[in-house]
Amino acid sequence: MFMLNHRLIDPPRKPQDFIKSASEFLQRHAKGKKVFCALSGGVDSSATYMTLKEADIEMIPVFIDHGLMRIIRGVEEREYIKKIFPDVRVIDIREDFLPKILGEEDAEIKRKLFKKAYSDTINRVIKEEKCDLLADGTILPDIEESFGVKITDLKESMSLEDERNLMEKNKKGFVKSQHNLDIEYEVEATLQPVASLTKPEVRDILEYLNLPTEHVYRKAFPGPALSARIIGPVSMENLAYEKKVHDIVESTIEDYYLENHGKTMIINDKGEQEPFQAFAVTTTDILLRKVTGIINGQRTYEVPLSIKGEWDFEKLTRFASQIKGYSRALYELHESHQGVYDVVIRTINSIDARTASVTNLPISLIEEIKYKLLEIHDTKNIYFDITSKPPGTIEYV
Ligand code: XMP
Repeated sequence: MFMLNHRLIDPPRKPQDFIKSASEFLQRHAKGKKVFCALSGGVDSSATYMTLKEADIEMIPVFIDHGLMRIIRGVEEREYIKKIFPDVRVIDIREDFLPKILGEEDAEIKRKLFKKAYSDTINRVIKEEKCDLLADGTILPDIEESFGVKITDLKESMSLEDERNLMEKNKKGFVKSQHNLDIEYEVEATLQPVASLTKPEVRDILEYLNLPTEHVYRKAFPGPALSARIIGPVSMENLAYEKKVHDIVESTIEDYYLENHGKTMIINDKGEQEPFQAFAVTTTDILLRKVTGIINGQRTYEVPLSIKGEWDFEKLTRFASQIKGYSRALYELHESHQGVYDVVIRTINSIDARTASVTNLPISLIEEIKYKLLEIHDTKNIYFDITSKPPGTIEYV
């Protein structure tokens, strides 16, 4: 059982100085030790891995393939990660994990199954490889949301007990059980070199370290992977469908930004990363499904409301931001009596995922996505989510 968390508190933000400070931090706590480093494919764990490399710390980098990762431009995540970080070890738990999650309806149970699969696999490798420490990609909003205090109120090294007391004191009601802070691993301590950084600061570090631009601007992806985007039970059929439609939505929107802005994500005049996330949600009969929203910081479950008529982004999003009794508003793009799955296109801008606004895409692009989705067998109704967070949440579960 680990007893300590080591976090780099308030380092300089200029990438060159940050790397120096992170290297000193890692040397302080990990010199001569063996570190387990889990890579998720996202920017936070990538930056963690890169700081370990820069500090020349012995590590075992691992990517866990559970089968529910997204496909982007036809490339499976496991292939993508191998290309970017060739020394990563891919641990394939698909055969073991998928049967456990298939058929499970409850979003929180899905999250728990993921947590358990991750922690069991990580602990197995830690044991096999005799790792002393575990490095993770916890970043600033994760810390501040979980502890309810500023990062500068924490110490560089804290015991589990100190942390539990602090969380207890500041408990304001978690919106979801999504942060992995309470998972215990069988190592001496964890290392959190990027704990003081915001997402754009993490991207700056990756850019400074010459990672490919597509990776620097990678969109955030939830831990429970596509199971967070399939409402209700996951099946092999709806998973295959979700992977296809997700790829269409994310890739088409990325292409649009690439063409119009030269990169797949911009910082807009509100300081948001635009788009912060772009994805497809799928289920049968979406209008009958209770999905998440937020009222006064508390999670709610209500059915969505469908709206059709003239496309006017400002009017529609203003309407949706004041919605009551429904968790969100969906603009109907296509209605059909044929097909199996409803699809929602969700694309949001955000600073740190605590709040989000709807990405203002031209309707011609949204229509283009719609036609591509209609080419996929089994597509039924198609919607575009016009709800900000709050009153909606980014994901649907
Ligand atoms: P919501 O849906 O609460 O999402 O507005 C906020 C951000 O968190 C991501 N998300 C998760 N990340 N485990 C994660 O690691 C989870 O269970 C989880 N649920 C949501 C979501 O993609 C968004 O960026």
